[in-house]
Amino acid sequence: MDIIIAKNDQEASKKAFERIQEGLQNGSIQTLGLATGSTPLKLYAEMREARLNVENVTTVNLDEYIGLAASDPQSYHYFMENELFNSLHFKASYLPNGMADDLEAECKRYEQILSEHPIDLQILGLGTNGHIGFNEPGTPFAAKTHVVELTKETIEANKRFFEKAEDVPTRAISMGIASIMAAKSIILLAFGEAKADAVQQMVEGPVTEECPASVLQNHPNVTIIVDEAAAGKLNVKDSTTFLR
Ligand code: F6R
Repeated sequence: MDIIIAKNDQEASKKAFERIQEGLQNGSIQTLGLATGSTPLKLYAEMREARLNVENVTTVNLDEYIGLAASDPQSYHYFMENELFNSLHFKASYLPNGMADDLEAECKRYEQILSEHPIDLQILGLGTNGHIGFNEPGTPFAAKTHVVELTKETIEANKRFFEKAEDVPTRAISMGIASIMAAKSIILLAFGEAKADAVQQMVEGPVTEECPASVLQNHPNVTIIVDEAAAGKLNVKDSTTFLR
C-alpha cells in the first residue's frame, strides 16, 4: 500500500490525475473504474480541463441508487454526465441501472460487464464509516455486485445532496468488495478531518469486514492519496510504502 500525503485536496487530485494521464498515454488503462460523491470532483475537473483523449477507454462506475432514473439530478448517472461524460467522450460508460425491475438480474448483468471489461485502475472515495462503493461495515469481502441497504450514517452523510434526509434513497446497487479487489490497480482518495478515523483504520487497523476499506491492505497495487487533514490520525506522518 502506497500512502501519499498531499498538502490539500487540489494537490492530491492532481497526483491522481497524473497517474490517469500516464496510464492513458502508455496504454495501461483501457478500463477506468469511477466513483461519485464530492471526493473525485477536483480530479474530474482536471480531466475535463486536460481534454484527455479517452475514445478508446471504457468506464464502469461503482454504484447507483435504486429508484432514481438516469435523468434524476440526484442520480449517479446524472452526476457522471455532468462531471465527466458530457465533456469527455469515452468509448463506453457503464453504471448499474437503479430502475431495473429485476435487481438480482441487474447485479448479474453488471458482473458480466465487469468480466468483459476488467478494471485497470479503480478510483475510490472513502465513507466516514470505512465503506468503499456502498459496501457498508459487515459486508462480506467475497461480495460481488449486490443490492445494499444504506446505513443511517451513509444516508446522513449523503443528505447534503438532497432537499431532506427522507429524499435520500435507502437502497443502492454497488459493486462488491470482491469486484473492487479484482481491479488491477486502485487509487483511493480521502480528504478532510471527517475521514481521518476511517483513513487510520483502513491503513493501520486490522483487516476486518467491520472496516470494508481495510481489505485494501491485501491488494497488491493500491495508492492512498490523502490531504493532511485526512492523514491527521495516521501514525506515519510522511508519504510512505507499507509492505505487508
Ligand atoms: C461513491 C461511493 C462512495 C463515496 C464515499 C465518499 O460512488 O461509492 O463510497 O466514495 O461515500 O463520499 P464523498 O466523496 O461524498 O465524501
